[in-house]
Amino acid sequence: MVKPMADAVHYFPSSFLWGTATASHQVEGQGIHSDWWAWEQTSGKIVNGDQSGLACDWWGGRYMEDFDRAAADGQNAHRLSIDWARIEPRPAIWDEDALIQYREMLTALHERNIEPVVTLCHYAHPQWFIEQGGWERADSVRIFERYVRKVARALGDKVRLWCTLNEPNAYWISAYVAGVFPPGKSDVRLAFTVNTNLYRAHVAAYHALHAERPNAQVGWALYIRLLDPWRPKLALDRWVANRQHELFNAAWPRAAQTGDLRNLFGKVSIPEGKGALDWIGLNYYTRDMVSFDLTKPRELFGRRFFHPDDETSESGFIASYPEGIYRVLKWARQFGKPMYITESGVEDSTDSLRQRYLLSHLRQVWRAVNFNWPVRGYFHWTLVDNFEWDRGWSQRFGLYALNVENQERTARPSARLYAEICKQGAISSQMVKQYAPELLDSMFPG
Ligand code: FCB
Repeated sequence: MVKPMADAVHYFPSSFLWGTATASHQVEGQGIHSDWWAWEQTSGKIVNGDQSGLACDWWGGRYMEDFDRAAADGQNAHRLSIDWARIEPRPAIWDEDALIQYREMLTALHERNIEPVVTLCHYAHPQWFIEQGGWERADSVRIFERYVRKVARALGDKVRLWCTLNEPNAYWISAYVAGVFPPGKSDVRLAFTVNTNLYRAHVAAYHALHAERPNAQVGWALYIRLLDPWRPKLALDRWVANRQHELFNAAWPRAAQTGDLRNLFGKVSIPEGKGALDWIGLNYYTRDMVSFDLTKPRELFGRRFFHPDDETSESGFIASYPEGIYRVLKWARQFGKPMYITESGVEDSTDSLRQRYLLSHLRQVWRAVNFNWPVRGYFHWTLVDNFEWDRGWSQRFGLYALNVENQERTARPSARLYAEICKQGAISSQMVKQYAPELLDSMFPG
């Protein structure tokens, strides 16, 4: 008689944070004071002319049912953001009611034993801030710090983990080079001014949060895109991939280590930023191959494309490369801080790739955890389909599908899979058999 094969189980530490990540503008709805709201009203800016509208209607109260889902699915943490434009709809004029609603949201998370991770600025800003020059101006640092202090005083007793800024590197590229995010500019010099001010703003926020809340743990979430030379034997491919990596991925953590922020034109000394980081947040989705190309001066002479072997997602936005998440953690380890995967996921309305994506990426996270590297949590992007910026509603990243017309949520198979993972604090051969049998041989051979 053939005995049934025993389950193989990869356990994560019991203190590991398992959650999903969201951003205020993408889920709350009616964020009328923000630059994104204004941007959405301008024709040609968002795919299909989509608008965020009610989004997932969290501001209307539906956060409660979604937090119920997260709790029922075994999540013990949730990364959410505060809409700066709601708190400060006009310069230094504070909306105390909005702060009360955020308090209620944080309380609702705690009541469900879900630890909040609070991002203070996730891409969206008050429209007045952008109209007066946004991050292009040096005084943006002081203005941001004022807002951060206000939030720290109002909500700080409910938050341990703070994320000052979401993906400042993706922001300066999207808003100041590609021009697809507001304010829609294309000016490389300005992009680096913005990057420097964002970095200074993080540093100011770091010190302000610690002054207001001594127990605060403060980090940021960077978008880490792996950039691999297409022809590794070719020095020019290696050189250009490395330059892009240093500028895009590495500049911020190196600045926290040395006090110098590097940009294309040199470096800026920000000594008060040395050590101003308690944890590192890594948003990992995909990787690019890079080959030297003289026709691409704006990309530092590097042409980027997906590896033909990496499976691509529904809208061609992501190439699935699970080992990348391990390599990102391995790279980020050198900075000597606790690490979180603050975002990872895939757009997939039919859930045909997501289950595989989830299991294969978590297997790679587990490898890092298993070496005892300080990986403290994983936040899947995202809980419920939400408004995906310039891609509008055309991309569906949710564990739960959203019917935008009537706010109905429907669990995708991945929601059940992720619930099993969170509840067991593990991935197992049983899960792979059930949700992604095609991975069994590679993940659990023998
Ligand atoms: C990240 C953003 C997040 C979401 C995902 C798909 O870059 O931080 O808001 O749009 O991509």
